[in-house]
Amino acid sequence: MKIDLPSLEINYKNRVEQALDRFLPSVADEPSMLHEAMRYSVFSPGKRLRPFLTYCVGKALGASFDVLDYPAAALEIVHAFSLIHDDLPAIDDDDVRRGLPTCHKRFDEATALLAGDALLTLAFNVLARTPLSSPEIVIKMIDHLALSLGSTGLIGGEFLDIQAERKVQEEAGLLKISEWKTASLIQGAIVLGALASPDCDEALVKPLGAWGRYLGIAFQIQDDILGVEGDPASLGKSTDSDRRHQKATLPLLKGVDFAKKMRDQFYGLAQEVAINIDLPLEELRQWSQKMIFRDR
Ligand code: IPE
Ligand code: IPE
Ligand code: MG
Ligand code: MG
Repeated sequence: MKIDLPSLEINYKNRVEQALDRFLPSVADEPSMLHEAMRYSVFSPGKRLRPFLTYCVGKALGASFDVLDYPAAALEIVHAFSLIHDDLPAIDDDDVRRGLPTCHKRFDEATALLAGDALLTLAFNVLARTPLSSPEIVIKMIDHLALSLGSTGLIGGEFLDIQAERKVQEEAGLLKISEWKTASLIQGAIVLGALASPDCDEALVKPLGAWGRYLGIAFQIQDDILGVEGDPASLGKSTDSDRRHQKATLPLLKGVDFAKKMRDQFYGLAQEVAINIDLPLEELRQWSQKMIFRDR
């Protein structure tokens, strides 16, 4: 009898969701509504892409899954923080996320703001507890995640994104927004998977990070393309938001065809870097193609 095993991707998804369930505070504990808001946002149906990257790279470098659960969950927790805050009225003012009311719509703005804050800090708690024998490596992971998120990473990118609304932007400025707000964390997910691994050689961090950065830029360009020509029902979010805010995105300012060319170019750059990384990363290579050319 042939048994269909679930794909590795589904295994990673289940795995990180179980880890998240262990790491997130219980709604039985006070402040119950804050914990409920944190869980609401984390457990809404996301693709779990960043944990997938961490597990794939860590596995290729000999890390144990029991160790990788910590950085993988930390990545998904900070991603949830970034989505809650991104949707707030002061930023993108969106009502729907992952097919559900956004956190501030389901709860209220103050709760959403604080749930985001609590998730951001929880991620560092989780990361600090990574069961590795070397405290230096744990500190390196914390440092790397903080840099990926800070004023020259995701948060800085969110700032640039808001500043660029209603303004003409050159290609370099548009790419910088994508790189900072999205590619920083995707790069961070790959690098944290490597750092948590026993076979991680310092010389690998740079090319792995570059791979993640190129993939991340292509990923955000595709997100912007879907923001113009995607289906809101399958995306689970508005496709009117970028236009409404006159966001500075490649497809809105330079046209969808040009954006597709740039997406392909960055995907190509990612592949060029990947060719020279001598690791068993076939899963990640296949996945990256699927992710960049996704329709949701
Ligand atoms: C959405 O990220 C925000 C971007 C950085 C483009 P994802 O497309 O990974 O969102 P979920 O986690 O699957 O909802
Ligand atoms: C994505 O921002 C980056 C972060 C959330 C940090 P967007 O505003 O472009 O993404 P969506 O379209 O709301 O998911
Ligand atoms: Mg935004
Ligand atoms: Mg948004």
